[in-house]
Amino acid sequence: MKLEFTEDQLAVQRMAREFADEQVAPRAKDLDEKGEYPADLVAKLGELGLMGVAIPPEYGGSGFDYVTYVLAMEEISRACAGTGVIMSVNNSLVCDPLYKYGTDAQKKDILAPLAAGKQLGCFGLTEPGAGSDPAAMRTTVRQVGDELLLSGEKIFITNAPNADWAIIFATEDKELRHKGVSAVLLPLKNHPGVSVGPKEIKMGIRASHSSSICMEEVKLPVSHRLGDRGMGFKVAMTTLDAGRIGIASQALGIAAAALNESLAYAKERETFGKPIAQHQAVAFMLADMGTELDAARLLTLRAAFLKDHKRPFSKESAMAKVFAAEMCMRLTTKAIQVHGGYGYLKEYAVERHFRDAKITDIYEGTSEIQRLVISSHLLKG
Ligand code: CAA
Repeated sequence: MKLEFTEDQLAVQRMAREFADEQVAPRAKDLDEKGEYPADLVAKLGELGLMGVAIPPEYGGSGFDYVTYVLAMEEISRACAGTGVIMSVNNSLVCDPLYKYGTDAQKKDILAPLAAGKQLGCFGLTEPGAGSDPAAMRTTVRQVGDELLLSGEKIFITNAPNADWAIIFATEDKELRHKGVSAVLLPLKNHPGVSVGPKEIKMGIRASHSSSICMEEVKLPVSHRLGDRGMGFKVAMTTLDAGRIGIASQALGIAAAALNESLAYAKERETFGKPIAQHQAVAFMLADMGTELDAARLLTLRAAFLKDHKRPFSKESAMAKVFAAEMCMRLTTKAIQVHGGYGYLKEYAVERHFRDAKITDIYEGTSEIQRLVISSHLLKG
């Protein structure tokens, strides 16, 4: 067993860390307060090759692996979790399935600008009546001649207000449930019949914008189907397997930021005549935070390693996501406790980390869904 990163992985981690510290972190408080989308930072992520980390250079990406992606995601999310999820959705929910299931033309025309960060993508699965149970979706697509006609509504779609492309999941035959679902590539800007709703006002990750996407008899060429007819559910599930590694990495970043803030504060703040870090009650909290964060990191890197080595990783990515998300909730709660009353004030970054943490427990499959995935693998033996 070898627990060491390659030179390439370390170089990308260093680059992402520098960018995060110098350019993202100083903006995070303001982006959160204003709920502002960081268009310039996203463009720079593209220039640094971080919007298509694991996509080969011939299709606009950087040609690294998923372990590298985890390292970079943690760094960016440590500085700003909202910016982190913008990157994560583009990398794992959009570029990854386009690379895996796309035709050569789709890869050249649609994937390449997305992976290079010149355009932005989003993933349209969730609907008002179909969140945890996407097979119950109502959005329809039907083929008429050599055209596809798409109708329906998707909600809570991360990146939608800023995106150029959406991967939309729609049913071609509702009777068939998941076997009737197809994935369709939808251009979002100035396309007849497509309307993107206003951004939702969210508790956390406020730099990333989410909204609905409404489609009314939207016409698309048949060449915009991603994967075969009826294969969409598989596209969605395999994509989410990888996406959950991205969200686990985002949780690592948020938790790492909260731990760093807590360590600094505990060394500086004094009670009963000494820094609070020297009180065992606080020191033990810090010890648990560090231990849990490392455990989540190892689970996340294991899932990425398995993906990189083309081995099954569905159970492992669900384990990484549920553990990292719940670790992030526990850790950010403790970070506020370490800060006492100050931690409850907007002035202190741990208040933002606490709000940002919650979504990791919800999107890309709630913690309850991760437990369903894990238990079904365990029970299969
Ligand atoms: N890989 C490949 N195939 C898979 C699979 C996987 N991980 N999981 C399921 N499948 C296949 C099954 O093998 C089965 O195929 P066959 O019929 O050919 O045998 C088919 O899919 C149906 O499987 P299930 O009967 O298990 O499906 P289900 O309807 O019971 O659902 C579920 C299973 C795991 C609960 C799934 O619905 C799920 O993951 N739900 C959560 C949805 C989710 O994560 N949404 C996130 C939205 S995106 C988002 O949040 C983005 C963002 O904002 C950042």
